[in-house]
Amino acid sequence: MSEPVDEIIPDLEQVRATEGHEVATAEPVLTVRDLDVVYEVAQPVHAVKGASLTLHRGEVLGLAGESGSGKTTLAYGLNQLHRPPARITGGSVTFHGRDGEEVDVLALEGESLRAFRWSKIAMVFQGAMNSLNPVISVKAQLEDVFTTHRPQMGAAERRRRCEELLELVGVDPGRITAFAHELSGGMRQRVMIAMALALDPELMIMDEPTTALDVVVQREILQEILRLRQELGFAVVFITHDLPMLLEISDRIAVMRRGEIVELDTAENLYFAPQHPYTRRLLGSFPSLTGSTGDFLRAGYSPEETR
Ligand SMILES: Nc1ncnc2c1ncn2[C@@H]1O[C@H](COP(=O)(O)OP(=O)(O)O)[C@@H](O)[C@H]1O
Ligand SMILES: [Mg+2]
Repeated sequence: MSEPVDEIIPDLEQVRATEGHEVATAEPVLTVRDLDVVYEVAQPVHAVKGASLTLHRGEVLGLAGESGSGKTTLAYGLNQLHRPPARITGGSVTFHGRDGEEVDVLALEGESLRAFRWSKIAMVFQGAMNSLNPVISVKAQLEDVFTTHRPQMGAAERRRRCEELLELVGVDPGRITAFAHELSGGMRQRVMIAMALALDPELMIMDEPTTALDVVVQREILQEILRLRQELGFAVVFITHDLPMLLEISDRIAVMRRGEIVELDTAENLYFAPQHPYTRRLLGSFPSLTGSTGDFLRAGYSPEETR
C-alpha cells in the first residue's frame, strides 16, 4: 500500500521551504578530482571514470543515475570502502575538516582510516537496517560505537549519548533495550542513522537509505535527515535512482551515466534547464514529472540526441 511518488512531493516542497536550503555554504568539505575506479575482473569494468566534484559544507548533493551507472562505486571510493576486485586507479579525494585540517583520504590506511571513516564521513547503506545484529540489543550496538571509538568515555555518559541520539532520530529511548526484530523497518533505519551520527560526522553518504521502506516512512525519514542536517550542519551525499525525490531534497544534483558525471547543477537548473540529453531522458522517465512540466522538459530535443 504505497502512494505514488508525486504525492509526497508537495510535503517535501514544504520541508524545503520551511527548513530552508540556506544551510549549504561555499566552503568545501570534500574535493574529488578525476577519480577512477575499476573492477579488475576478466573483462575489467571502468565503473567510475574521471569523477570530479566539490561538496560544500552543509550541502545536500544528490547522486542520480540509472542502476549500474556507478553511484555506489563512487560513494564507496570516497571513503575507501571499496573492496577487491574494485581498485582506485587514479584521482584524489581531499577532506577539508572543520578544524582546518586537510586529509588525503586515499592515502589513509589501517587505524587512521578506520577512525576517519566513522568520525568524519559516515555512511548509511540501502540494506543497513538489516545489518543490525539480531541477538544484541539496539542499546548495546549503539553503545558499541562509543566503546570502540571513544574508549575514554564513561558508562553513564555513553548511555546519555545513546539516548540523546535515539531521541534525535525520533526513536523513543525507552525502546533502547529492544532487539532489531522488535522494531519496524523504518525504526531500524533510524537506528542506523543514529549510529552514523554518533561521532558527529561532517559528511553523511547515504546510498538508497530509504528505498526498502514504504513511501510514508520514506518521507518521514527524509524530513528527519533534512532537519538533522540543519541542526548538526553535516553535508549529505544522497544516492537514489529516484530523481523526483532528489529534486526535492538536494541543493545540487550530479547525474551519472556509465561511470561518468555527465551533469552537475543546482536542483532548480537541472529540473528547468537540463543540459545533457541523458538528464532530459532521465527526467522524462518519471511519470510524476511528465505533466505539463515534463512536456516542457522534453520540448526541443529529439530521441536521437540520447543515443
Ligand atoms: N564486484 C563487481 N565486479 C565487477 N563489476 C562490478 C562489481 N560491482 C559492480 N560492478 C559494475 O560496476 C558498475 C557500477 O555499479 P554500481 O556502482 O553498483 O552502480 P549503481 O550503484 O549506480 O547501480 C556496473 O556496471 C556493475 O555491473
Ligand atoms: Mg547502487
